Amino acid sequence: MNLVNLPTRQETNRLLLRPFAAGDWTEYAAYHARPDVYAFLYREAPTGTALREQFDRVLRPRFESDGDVYRLAVTLKDGGAIAGEVMLKLESRDALQAEVGYIFSPAHAGKGYATEAVAAMLAIGFDTLGFHRIFARLDAANLGSVGVVERLGLRREAHLRENDRFNGKWGDEYVYALLRSEWEKRSRPAPPPDPENPLGTLTDWDSDADRT
Ligand SMILES: CC(C)(COP(=O)(O)OP(=O)(O)OC[C@H]1O[C@@H](n2cnc3c(N)ncnc32)[C@H](O)[C@@H]1OP(=O)(O)O)[C@@H](O)C(=O)NCCC(=O)NCCS
Repeated sequence: MNLVNLPTRQETNRLLLRPFAAGDWTEYAAYHARPDVYAFLYREAPTGTALREQFDRVLRPRFESDGDVYRLAVTLKDGGAIAGEVMLKLESRDALQAEVGYIFSPAHAGKGYATEAVAAMLAIGFDTLGFHRIFARLDAANLGSVGVVERLGLRREAHLRENDRFNGKWGDEYVYALLRSEWEKRSRPAPPPDPENPLGTLTDWDSDADRT
């Protein structure tokens, strides 16, 4: 696993992913202070000094030992606003396992930015850092988050019933995951057309027709 050269810049069609900087405080605080953003994160939205301390920890990232988090701010190429952030948590360095996470501002919801940024983080996790398995844990009621992982083709591996409680209410959790082998299979370009059989499946249809 290569944790030495963590990417500090990743571009997608519409986004630029880069580490948070001190000047991002106002934009970071604006969405992290919102209770609706924390509705499915099993804790209250931080306020006051707790929020400031959380941001200060974000500015001093470490990604060496289990439990450490690699985080990139997701900014719009068009205008530079911060739409949210994507994270990889080092779950097990020995077993090459990481958990992907994402928090986006409702001001930038519904445009596919989270899906685009999480796809970029999966690419970093598998192709650059060399993880074997990347998983996501989400509240089963968090339909926006279910949409993100399902659009990206992660497999639902578990439905944990009432495994957590927040504000006196039991919650279910889903675990979604992708193996490196599944990622590579998906990322591999389609083979070039066979010059002998440019339409590919036509032969199969013909042979089916012969049988009937
Ligand atoms: C979870 C979260 C990231 C989902 O946000 P989102 O806006 O639904 O996700 P995306 O940015 O990927 O946008 C997807 C939506 O944009 C639409 N969309 C528009 N253009 C699109 C494009 N070019 N590509 C993909 N989707 C596009 C999709 O159809 C989808 O809409 P739908 O939900 O009505 O089907 C967001 O709600 C959030 O950050 N919540 C707070 C923190 C949180 O719960 N994090 C997850 C913890 S597990």
